[in-house]
Amino acid sequence: MKETDYERRYQTKENYWQFRPSSMAFKVLELLPPINRKPKVLEIGSGEGGNAIFLARNGYDVTAFDLAPTGVSKTLENADRAGIFLNAFVADINEYMPVEKYDVIFSSGTLQYLFPEKRKVFIDACKAQTNPQGIHVFHTFVSKPFVEIAPDAEENEFLWSSGELLSLYRDWLTEKFVEEIKSCNSSGVPHRHAHNRIWTRKL
Ligand SMILES: C[S@@+](CC[C@H](N)C(=O)[O-])C[C@H]1O[C@@H](n2cnc3c(N)ncnc32)[C@H](O)[C@@H]1O
Repeated sequence: MKETDYERRYQTKENYWQFRPSSMAFKVLELLPPINRKPKVLEIGSGEGGNAIFLARNGYDVTAFDLAPTGVSKTLENADRAGIFLNAFVADINEYMPVEKYDVIFSSGTLQYLFPEKRKVFIDACKAQTNPQGIHVFHTFVSKPFVEIAPDAEENEFLWSSGELLSLYRDWLTEKFVEEIKSCNSSGVPHRHAHNRIWTRKL
């Protein structure tokens, strides 16, 4: 299991990430609301737990994992402090396969750590472990010829092709797919990232 640079970044007392859920997590509430039951969520690469805690607080039964042990400890501590229960553990996306069924599989900013040759097998396994009417909500970084590689790109990050994620869901109902170029200053050097986001449903 390779250590991620995030392990170092998370070793501060404060949260590295601004502790607020992403717009992708808000959209989960709209697409699969927790009415009369607690939908089961798997979050892949949960960082310090911002999205996982938001979903658990809003009535979802959340399981989350990340490669960075400090991210997972912070997730559990942050959840505990908020009086919220969730399940979080350390795992490497390159060694993990979902074994239970989920209603929502969610991942923001982590799929680019999956080895390219494992993408289809992993996504197919996630699809197989999703209940009918369940959703996948995924974000990844993609390459575009006019967007330079980020100065702080890690050697174990593999940008997806533009539209590749969408192409793996031809047999699902894609509710929304977005491609965006956004500015970033993560390394202190201004740069840009190309993003693909998908909200897609198993029928
Ligand atoms: C850009 S951060 C996103 C964190 C979180 N999803 C969020 O939106 O706040 C990427 C996360 O992927 C995790 N990560 C990196 N490599 C990983 C791997 N091989 N398996 C699982 N998680 C990994 C990092 O530790 C980090 O928390």
